[in-house]
Amino acid sequence: MQGFVYQSAPSRVVFGAGVLAQLPDEVVRLGARRALVLTTPEQRGLGERVASLFGERAVGVYAQAVMHVPTEVARAAREEATRLGADCYVAVGGGSTIGLGKAIALESPQPIIAVPTTYAGSEVTPIYGLTEGRLKKTGRDTRVLPRTVLYDPELTLTLPADISAASGMNAMAHA
Ligand SMILES: NC(=O)c1ccc[n+]([C@@H]2O[C@H](COP(=O)([O-])OP(=O)(O)OC[C@H]3O[C@@H](n4cnc5c(N)ncnc54)[C@H](O)[C@@H]3O)[C@@H](O)[C@H]2O)c1
Repeated sequence: MQGFVYQSAPSRVVFGAGVLAQLPDEVVRLGARRALVLTTPEQRGLGERVASLFGERAVGVYAQAVMHVPTEVARAAREEATRLGADCYVAVGGGSTIGLGKAIALESPQPIIAVPTTYAGSEVTPIYGLTEGRLKKTGRDTRVLPRTVLYDPELTLTLPADISAASGMNAMAHA
């Protein structure tokens, strides 16, 4: 018999239709008071909806996430968080947004909460990617794992059919 080592992820997972409404409680649970919402330009509307759930606990929406996490986008997000006095990040979106959260977590002590809206699964892997110029580098580090992952299946209902199909295939490939 072959031995192996298994290390489980330290994340807390909250799952259920409509659990987005519990997001403010999850931020409080982490001891945070000032959340910066991360998302893509295309999902800014959702980002603003999420920020409105927090009321005064939201310091802003950074809607600049793009695929493959350019280092300058991650740096600019950290600078924006410092400028706004954020003490946690809420990444709302697909693998691109979650990837931005992971890149930030690599160099920042503030906790990340992930709210996935695709099936990419990045929120539960210690793998991160960063693109410098035209070169994408990937790495593995448990520091990038979100502290909390909140899955609300209702958030996937707006996915266009083509992205839904591609993302579903991606999830099966991961499995
Ligand atoms: N590190 C990992 O373990 C891991 C795993 C899987 C994917 N990834 C990375 O994730 C990226 C791809 O992520 P993805 O496939 O989730 O796509 P994505 O995050 O790039 O999203 C694609 C587009 O769909 C939009 N979108 C996302 N969810 C939506 C929704 N519910 N409704 C409407 N629009 C929505 C986004 O705003 C974006 O415009 C790649 O960079 C890939 O390398 C990383």
